[in-house]
Amino acid sequence: MAPDLDTIVSLAKRRGFVFPSSEIYGGLAGAWDYGPFGSELKYNIEHLWWKRFVSGREDMYGINSSILMNPKVWESAGHVQGFGDPLMTCANCKNSFRADEYGDGAPALCSFCGADTKSLSTPRVFNTMFATHVGVSKDEEHITYLRPETAQGMFVNFKNILDSLHPKLPFGMAQIGKAFRNEIAPRDFLFRAREFGQMEIEYFVKEAEWEKWFEYWRGEMVGWIEEIGISKNRFHEREVSDTDRAHYSKRTIDFDYDFPFGRKELYGLAYRGDYDLRKHETGSGADMRFTDPETGEKFVPHVIEPTFGVDRTVLAILCEAYAEEGSGEEKRVVLHFKPKLAPVKIAVFPLLRNKPELVTGAREVFQALKGMFPSTLWDDNGNIGKRYRRQDELGTPYCVTFDFESIEDKAVTVRDRDTMEQERIKVEELPAYLSEKF
Ligand code: GAP
Repeated sequence: MAPDLDTIVSLAKRRGFVFPSSEIYGGLAGAWDYGPFGSELKYNIEHLWWKRFVSGREDMYGINSSILMNPKVWESAGHVQGFGDPLMTCANCKNSFRADEYGDGAPALCSFCGADTKSLSTPRVFNTMFATHVGVSKDEEHITYLRPETAQGMFVNFKNILDSLHPKLPFGMAQIGKAFRNEIAPRDFLFRAREFGQMEIEYFVKEAEWEKWFEYWRGEMVGWIEEIGISKNRFHEREVSDTDRAHYSKRTIDFDYDFPFGRKELYGLAYRGDYDLRKHETGSGADMRFTDPETGEKFVPHVIEPTFGVDRTVLAILCEAYAEEGSGEEKRVVLHFKPKLAPVKIAVFPLLRNKPELVTGAREVFQALKGMFPSTLWDDNGNIGKRYRRQDELGTPYCVTFDFESIEDKAVTVRDRDTMEQERIKVEELPAYLSEKF
């Protein structure tokens, strides 16, 4: 059964995954800080994504563009005019909220004070881009924006990639980075934040082939969702209607996940046509055409965009991995992360922390493993049962214990997180044994 969100938020804080941002000052809505284990989990997700979609492929060009860009980027791309959410304000309590939270129909009552429809304003578009000033002047001319999507960093570098790397079509550009949106109602932990990570691909194709490549990326996205351990019955594809699609999209499929607070968008796949390249061609005067090396034909490619939110991935993986098992004394909370995503891969313990011969032996094993598996942790706090419970809550797949017998038989006990079975493994065979697991 899926856990409730409070359970996940509380575990995330207790075990050093995610903390509220600037908590000692009361926090900041929509901003979150990753602790040691959350950072490691996020890094593992991003690393796996990069390997799968960028460095593991021949047709993908990874970039890392700046967060601050020339404001004309956002004017040309249509974000200054049209990037926002419908906002309603209540004349009774003066609170504002997103009108689309209620689905297609307008809300009957104010979600804060319950005042009736007469008190609610008609929805108006609230632009969610964060504006800031570049340089010392605070006037209109010096306004730019914190990027609300990483995608535009790729479109404005499209010509640089053509000119410097001469790719063949189809090819993609990809990046992982932060995006910022002044969300009207940040909520549901990492789900709707004001600062969040995106992993995005812009895949450039011939117009006539867009449907083929749309289907291809649909399959690739499902492959990724399965690779990170999301169960098939908890994610669902949804065709986004004409009225709900972003201003640049001709077709969008959302990949929804059954979060504890409902079925909501995890990822998206959009056919952006040639909207962005054309807009930047007009706005900047740069030639965005691709030249076919065989025919010499020049044309502006069309784009398929698979987009993945980093923080929503972290949240979905935490929800998916969470389990409460057993009962009474045997009850445990465990995170069944896929081993390659687990923030801690191996924990090494001396059976007793006050026996120098055990600590020395365990330290030797720890140092050897740490060299091979950097996410190896030393743990000698509390008794062995408590250590297992703690490591289960961190999702550590393997715990290695050095005990009195280890001094004689040069073997250690390896405990499997999921089955809780214990195996005796020779110390010299340990690296090979564990290598097979990740
Ligand atoms: N470049 C296309 C684009 O930005 P989007 O659907 O607005 O499309 C892409 O955002 C992904 O970014 C979403 O599928 C989601 O995973 C993530 N995302 C969007 N807004 C978010 C927010 N406020 N907090 C956390 N993640 C968010």
